[in-house]
Parts: sequence; structure tokens; C-alpha cells
Amino acid sequence: MTLIVGQLCRLRPIRRSNAMVSIGWRNNPAIRNAVMGYRFPVTETMEDRWYDQVLAEQSGRRATFAIEENIDGVFIGFVHLTEIDWPSRAAQFGIVIGDTSRQCRGIGSEASRLALRYAFDTLNLDRLELRVSEPNTRARHIYQKLGFREEGRLRRAAFIDGVAIDVMVMGILREEFADER
Ligand SMILES: CC(C)(COP(=O)(O)OP(=O)(O)OC[C@H]1O[C@@H](n2cnc3c(N)ncnc32)[C@H](O)[C@@H]1OP(=O)(O)O)[C@@H](O)C(=O)NCCC(=O)NCCS
Repeated sequence: MTLIVGQLCRLRPIRRSNAMVSIGWRNNPAIRNAVMGYRFPVTETMEDRWYDQVLAEQSGRRATFAIEENIDGVFIGFVHLTEIDWPSRAAQFGIVIGDTSRQCRGIGSEASRLALRYAFDTLNLDRLELRVSEPNTRARHIYQKLGFREEGRLRRAAFIDGVAIDVMVMGILREEFADER
């Protein structure tokens, strides 16, 4: 059922049976802070509803993929294109490697690259946008590497771990994508 295959990882449709894994990521403060996610405890019912919402929006306004590591097929994260605006050919981009033991091994960069390729070459989008907290230098580094540019700074736009932080708006146009085919 794999859709997009890279050297380290592959992207496939999400599966409801993954909810008990992803709920652990969502309730992990390190992940939650990194993605500026939902601050309240996420219950199993809420996680199930999130899958319902994703499945309802899939193909119209969103494309969410599960990321699996090739080496063992384990489900380790999500990559998303959301709020797809077809007339503007624009969408929001997001990624999480929720299994923290699998971070910093090149998978986030590759999964992002595969998703950008899909956005530009398959969906024919022209622009992707994201928000990332200023302290999240690792994510900002991979976004810059892919060709995203900083387009703005939302001052003190998030309160994380006791500190008000700035949030960076980053965007990429299709011709700016630094693909490594
Ligand atoms: C951000 C994230 C997607 C990156 O994926 P990853 O698989 O961990 O990262 P990769 O191994 O592909 O790349 C990491 C790069 O960042 C660099 N890096 C690592 N720590 C860093 C830091 N603190 N500051 C700057 N760069 C850093 C690495 O050197 C590497 O750079 P290189 O490819 O030029 O050598 C992943 O760590 C993650 O999901 N984090 C939690 C959720 C999150 O932050 N999502 C993004 C929210 S906007």
C-alpha cells in the first residue's frame, strides 16, 4: 500500500490502527512543544476523531501521509499538506517524526523532500507555507535546506515551556525547491 518510496523512508496513507501510536507522540511534551501542538491531554476518542477528520478532508483539502522507515517498516511520523487552496495552488506544510529515537537520521529531510515533490509534481501546487517556532532550529535548518525562505516573524506568538517565543512564517515557491534527484 506504499505510495512514495525514498531511500530511507516511504510515505503511505494513514491507518486508523496507528492511532494508539500517534496519541503517544501527541501527548509527548517535547513533540507537542516542537510542533506548537494541542496543549491539553489528548484522549483516545480525540485521536480517533482526528483520524476521522483527516480521512474526511483527504483529497479535497489535505494530503496526510504516514512515514515508515524502510529498514523495518515501522510507523514513525506524519507529513502533511493541509488547507490546500486549489485556486491559489497553495497549501500548508507540516512534518513530525514522532518516534524520537528515529530523529536526526536524515528521515525528516527525506520525507519532507518526497512530500514537496508530491506537492509540486503531482498536485501541481505552486506555493507551500509553514509556521515554525524560532527556537526550533533543527526544523528551520531542514526547511532552509529544502528551499523554504523566511517570510515573516510573528512576535511572541506562542507560549512554550514558560517562555513567549516568536514564530517564523516560511514559504517556498515551486522553482525554489532544492530537490536532489
Ligand atoms: C524537525 C524534524 C522533522 C527533522 O527531522 P529529522 O529526521 O530529525 O532531521 P534530519 O536528520 O533529516 O536532519 C537534521 C538536520 O538538522 C541538523 N540539526 C540537528 N540539530 C540541530 C539544531 N539543534 N539546530 C540546527 N540544526 C540541527 C542536522 O545536522 C541535520 O542537518 P544536515 O542534514 O544538514 O546534516 C524532526 O526532528 C521532528 O519531527 N522533530 C519534532 C517535530 C518538529 O519539530 N516538527 C517541525 C515543526 S515546524
